[in-house]
Amino acid sequence: MLKAVLKVKPSPKEILEERGELAVQAEEVLRQNDMGGWTRAAPGLYPHQWSWDSAFIAIGLAHLDVRRAARELRTLFAHQWRTGKVPHIVFNPKTPPKSYYPGAEHWACAAASPDAPPAPPYTSCLTQPPVHAIAASRIWEAAGRESEEGLSSTRDFLHGIYPRLFAWHRYLLTYRDPEESGLVTIYHPWGSGTDNSPRWDAALAAVEVGELPPYPRYDLQHVTDSSQRPTNGYYDRYLWLVKLIKEAGCDERTIYRSHPFLVKDVLSSAILVAANEALLKIAEVIGAPDEDRELIAGWAERGRRGLDACWDADLKLCLDYDLRADKPLRVRTVAGFAPLIAGGQDPDRVEALLGVLDSPVFAEHPGSRWSLPPSTSPEELRFHPRSYWRGPTWPVINWLLWWSLLRAGNVERAERLRRVSLEPLASGGFGEYFDPYTGEPLGSTSQSWTAAVALDWLVG
Ligand code: DGY
Repeated sequence: MLKAVLKVKPSPKEILEERGELAVQAEEVLRQNDMGGWTRAAPGLYPHQWSWDSAFIAIGLAHLDVRRAARELRTLFAHQWRTGKVPHIVFNPKTPPKSYYPGAEHWACAAASPDAPPAPPYTSCLTQPPVHAIAASRIWEAAGRESEEGLSSTRDFLHGIYPRLFAWHRYLLTYRDPEESGLVTIYHPWGSGTDNSPRWDAALAAVEVGELPPYPRYDLQHVTDSSQRPTNGYYDRYLWLVKLIKEAGCDERTIYRSHPFLVKDVLSSAILVAANEALLKIAEVIGAPDEDRELIAGWAERGRRGLDACWDADLKLCLDYDLRADKPLRVRTVAGFAPLIAGGQDPDRVEALLGVLDSPVFAEHPGSRWSLPPSTSPEELRFHPRSYWRGPTWPVINWLLWWSLLRAGNVERAERLRRVSLEPLASGGFGEYFDPYTGEPLGSTSQSWTAAVALDWLVG
């Protein structure tokens, strides 16, 4: 009898079953991409473990199996560098040759750094936005809906991952912020996770590219037309920057001194603020020392101040800052909503941001199929509806905005965003990104993080 009463609240898995076909398909995508302990970002285009992809994947997996979700993060953090850096790619040694470029061979020199973890597997020496503490706290929330056993294994997981998350955030706030601005510096557009966004165009244009050997574009085999991927001109610049980073021995201080591309990234910085809030919650669960908690709270505060300094009152958006040119990078992209993602803003700032989000500059553009923000505003000259981060709408970005609206207490707006965010997936499957005008799925198919956020939305 007691059991029957306790059973009234359905488990997340039961809720998923009720949500039908889309949830079943999302679960299937994650299962197919599961490599045993970690998940490839996509079957063809991205056959390795990517850092921020894994964090989003863990958020989705938490609804299927909290232990497997925890393992996703543990596997990634097993390749953390001595400095605390979490590499943007951990290369799968079993990937067939000619499947991804630049692959493990290209980054093998990173393993020579005294700070690198033992190889193989090899890792890159770049980073991606720090979604991981957010993922760990979501796993904890999901475990709260589970059995006592799931809860206790997740508590053990938090004890194990906490020092690693702490070291990761400390790395970002020291090596990547020697100015103590609260803002994360990146030295490669891949470090932003938004590779070919026009956010980086002006800073990249100033990079003088020298002689490069010919290189393959395996990525183009996986898309129906090459306009969906960055052009060769961008790839030349990406590979030139990698060459310079390798010549600097992947040494952070040398890179900071001499590298031609050095930018304060507001999206990564905002995610770090939210991740620090999540880390504070984890610190509480595991009973971390007070000094840690004071430090983490200070990091979050410093991050908010840094973002404040990047606010553009005309555009009503936050702007990245080019440290080499010593000026803001003035272009309207979804990264501009950084303060919303950081959270803890005053109501006027939130209202200003939502005004831009819900205007023709973004989600209400008259040509758009759905009320979803394109990655770059269609009013920008450099907008392109099919090209990677230059216009398509991205489910993971929509997830970040949705989650931020919930945290800001704007439940009704969040719910609208959740519902409409599921529409491209219901009509086009688990694409990597979507043409905002036609809704066509673009980039990779069966993209793991798209499936993962879908699961989270369906449970929500
Ligand atoms: C790619 O290959 O497009 C990745 O985003 C680089 O990390």
